[in-house]
Amino acid sequence: MLASKILHDDEVFLGSDELIISKTDLQGRITYANRTFIRLAGYDEEALLDKPHNMIRHPDMPKGVFKFLWQELQQGHEFFGFIKNATIGQGFYWVFANITPDFDSKGRVQGYFSVRRSPSAEAIKVIEPIYKNMIEIERRHSKPDAPHHSFSYLNQVLDSKRVSYERFVMQLQAL
Ligand SMILES: Cc1cc2nc3c(=O)[nH]c(=O)nc-3n(C[C@H](O)[C@H](O)[C@H](O)COP(=O)(O)O)c2cc1C
Repeated sequence: MLASKILHDDEVFLGSDELIISKTDLQGRITYANRTFIRLAGYDEEALLDKPHNMIRHPDMPKGVFKFLWQELQQGHEFFGFIKNATIGQGFYWVFANITPDFDSKGRVQGYFSVRRSPSAEAIKVIEPIYKNMIEIERRHSKPDAPHHSFSYLNQVLDSKRVSYERFVMQLQAL
């Protein structure tokens, strides 16, 4: 019992000079993973390639964040945000992620490209309770509506701080 709890709470950290890089196709299936990604996630490269990126999804991550991420990408925008990911051994790691459309030589979007760096520890202290509230809101709503409601809550938090989403996460990462 104790051992499984320790395993479940096992946080692994990205070095301050390390980057996790991955690429996906248009559906979010992994087409490239760098060594740091492979090391932290704990999977072999073959186990990651061609798999949906949600294979490292952590249950503490609100659906509303991913809905917003995909909306931004599909509009040709980049996304910045704090993401908690699961490792193969039920551990976890936090990242500050930047995800962008990946263009081919003719300027068409051929997939997506993500670079994640070590997040500010202070930022995680701020974002974690917000994500917990979002998850709680998602539990109270039916599946299709849940991400909308939790993202509305995040927008209320941003409105109360009079800050845009992007400015908020940039300010947090600078803490
Ligand atoms: C380039 C790229 C990188 C992504 N990186 C992550 C990631 O690190 N962790 C994660 O949980 N989802 C990531 N996603 C989002 C997943 O595709 C997926 O939307 C998310 O895990 C939620 O899973 P669901 O859509 O099945 O609910 C990424 C998507 C793209 C396009």
